[in-house]
Amino acid sequence: MEVVICRDAAQVGIVAAEKVADRLRGRANPVIGLATGSSPLDLYAHLAKLVDDGALDLSQAYGFALDEYVGLAHEHPESYHAVIHRTVTEPLRMNPARVRVPNGMAADLVGAAQQYEEAIRAAGGVDVQVLGIGSNGHIGFNEPFTSFGSRTHRVPLTEQTRNDNARFFDSMDQVPTHALTQGLGTIMDSRTAVLVATGEHKADAVAAMIEGPVAIAMPASILQFHPDVHVVLDEAAAAKLASRDHFHKL
Ligand code: GLP
Repeated sequence: MEVVICRDAAQVGIVAAEKVADRLRGRANPVIGLATGSSPLDLYAHLAKLVDDGALDLSQAYGFALDEYVGLAHEHPESYHAVIHRTVTEPLRMNPARVRVPNGMAADLVGAAQQYEEAIRAAGGVDVQVLGIGSNGHIGFNEPFTSFGSRTHRVPLTEQTRNDNARFFDSMDQVPTHALTQGLGTIMDSRTAVLVATGEHKADAVAAMIEGPVAIAMPASILQFHPDVHVVLDEAAAAKLASRDHFHKL
């Protein structure tokens, strides 16, 4: 696990985007795993700048989102279908036909989850997985006590996660109760993972992920076993790391 501590959130976005771009360049059909949430927005903005400058071409790339709410129409502005289209597909000039998001509207969610796993495999597997981290240590929507071997599956959302995400909806009762998410096993299959976290509200989860025991109470801790994972933090998110002097500071 490589840990980089940046001055601020803007630098986190640039440093993380450069790592993602490095892994995607030179591949004929690169595959990028896409997180939603606010954390990766600066990363995507810098990737879009590289694309605009001609330093990166993602027109032949495949994209796979980590997760989607169950029962939220794809047209809803806060559905991850809409968010990924707005923040990734369009600005990164990706081919919409090659960007997939789990189908949380499927009548058969088990079948939809299996098809999603097959689609990732058919594309050749994920080259670089972009990740954020929830304040309770979730990655994707894999909440605490999700099995480390899990594949794409339906999950109930914890109250903490629903509260964290309530800011995107008009009222709490509109926040979905379930999601379809890539499993921890799916995420661990990515060749490279780049996790970004900023702000003091992430500091406890970040410290537990990097320094704590690998335990299903802290889903992100499984990344300690990932063969090529890069964690890019700002000072606030790194504040509770006992080992912070040990890591690379920019
Ligand atoms: C969301 C997403 C995750 C994301 C996390 C953190 O609910 N499902 O993929 O990483 O929670 O979100 P944010 O970056 O907005 O703090």
